[in-house]
Amino acid sequence: MAYSNKVLDHYEHPRNVGAFDKDDGQVGTGMVGAPACGDVMKLQIKVGEDGVIQDARFKTYGCGSAIASSSLVTEWVKGKTLDEALDIKNTAIAEELELPPVKIHCSILAEDAIKAAVTDYKQKHGK
Ligand code: FES
Ligand code: FES
Repeated sequence: MAYSNKVLDHYEHPRNVGAFDKDDGQVGTGMVGAPACGDVMKLQIKVGEDGVIQDARFKTYGCGSAIASSSLVTEWVKGKTLDEALDIKNTAIAEELELPPVKIHCSILAEDAIKAAVTDYKQKHGK
């Protein structure tokens, strides 16, 4: 299947690959899987005292679209508040990467991963 240039760019030069210490109080970790294909995405955010996301990391075991979606959202969340990060929609990811319909679930995985990371951070802080 043909990938768009934007998917290929993120696939070949993924941004923010790696991991933070999940026990770090500043870190929120989201781990999600796609039942449709078995792919797994781990996405982490590092949040400052002011509640703004300073940095993000991801590790994705999956297809090119899933890797590109997670790479893209790690860039998008930086500088956002937690609530702004929750507003990131998979449709925006799919549009930016020009994902075909069969690859929409890959962008949903990225949206879910962000939500899970924010939820984890909030739970750590009793919110
Ligand atoms: Fe899982 Fe895409 S089907 S890699
Ligand atoms: Fe399953 Fe992309 S996440 S094919």
